[in-house]
Amino acid sequence: MSDLDLRGRRAWVGGASQGIGEAIALALASRGCSLSLLARNAAALEALCARLPRPAQQEHGWLAVDFSQTGTLAAALETLPRAEILILNSGGPSPGPAHAAAPEAFAAAFAQHLLANQTLLQQNLAQMRSAGYGRVITVLSTSVKQPIAGLGVSNTIRGAVAAWAKTLASELGPDGITVNNVLPGYTDTKRLGSIMANKAAKAAVSVEAMAAQLRAEVPAGRFADPAETAAAVAFLASPQAGYINGINLPVDGGRTQSL
Ligand SMILES: NC(=O)c1ccc[n+]([C@@H]2O[C@H](COP(=O)([O-])OP(=O)(O)OC[C@H]3O[C@@H](n4cnc5c(N)ncnc54)[C@H](OP(=O)(O)O)[C@@H]3O)[C@@H](O)[C@H]2O)c1
Repeated sequence: MSDLDLRGRRAWVGGASQGIGEAIALALASRGCSLSLLARNAAALEALCARLPRPAQQEHGWLAVDFSQTGTLAAALETLPRAEILILNSGGPSPGPAHAAAPEAFAAAFAQHLLANQTLLQQNLAQMRSAGYGRVITVLSTSVKQPIAGLGVSNTIRGAVAAWAKTLASELGPDGITVNNVLPGYTDTKRLGSIMANKAAKAAVSVEAMAAQLRAEVPAGRFADPAETAAAVAFLASPQAGYINGINLPVDGGRTQSL
């Protein structure tokens, strides 16, 4: 088994019905991992599940579940086989400045992101500990390092999740469990499409003009392919990344200006 190989491991992949989560599912499955796909859109999960590589030792499944349903989430997840690898990924909160957001918007984001993450972690912690191998990987945003204008609730909740993850990294490191945050920059998904449309409408320019403006902020001069973000996640999930714990890893083409 190479140190990048994930055969014999299972991952729960959140937000797997599209975008970065879907790309992560494909990357982990191609490295031999069995998957449990999670998101709300049952049809999309079923279709992705059917497309995953499936050699003899790999078994994939899916469950339509809403991370915002805090009261019923743990029971809904009960039937799934437990995992050593947890990909904590979900839909980003609605845009808007922090000062104008309703208090309820912060509470909803906290439930969908932090409370769901805690539920998913607690469902799998015993499995990770008994395997002596755990990988908890959140998909957050470069806003952890540098808040993004117009994403007030998102900036806030990303910071909270990053602090949660850093705390866990210290607590769980002795059990062979690492906890790391991947911070996507502009990544070519539906989420980026809606953010660009929103920005374009506010600036009264075309979506194409806004896309060019955003690309110009990136030293790489382009948006990321979700597969590039997924490759970083797959590395962090692997045995080879065993000494990387508690980090924030931007996958942003060099856009973030902070160290
Ligand atoms: N794309 C970018 O440029 C970019 C940049 C920085 C950060 N990010 C962040 O990275 C994450 C993934 O980005 P993305 O572009 O792949 O986003 P996306 O295309 O909007 O996909 C989000 C995924 O989360 C699932 N989801 C949303 N709400 C959910 C809920 N309540 N319960 C369960 N699943 C839910 C969605 O599936 P269902 O609708 O089927 O539930 C979907 O699979 C997001 O948090 C995003 O904000 C993205």
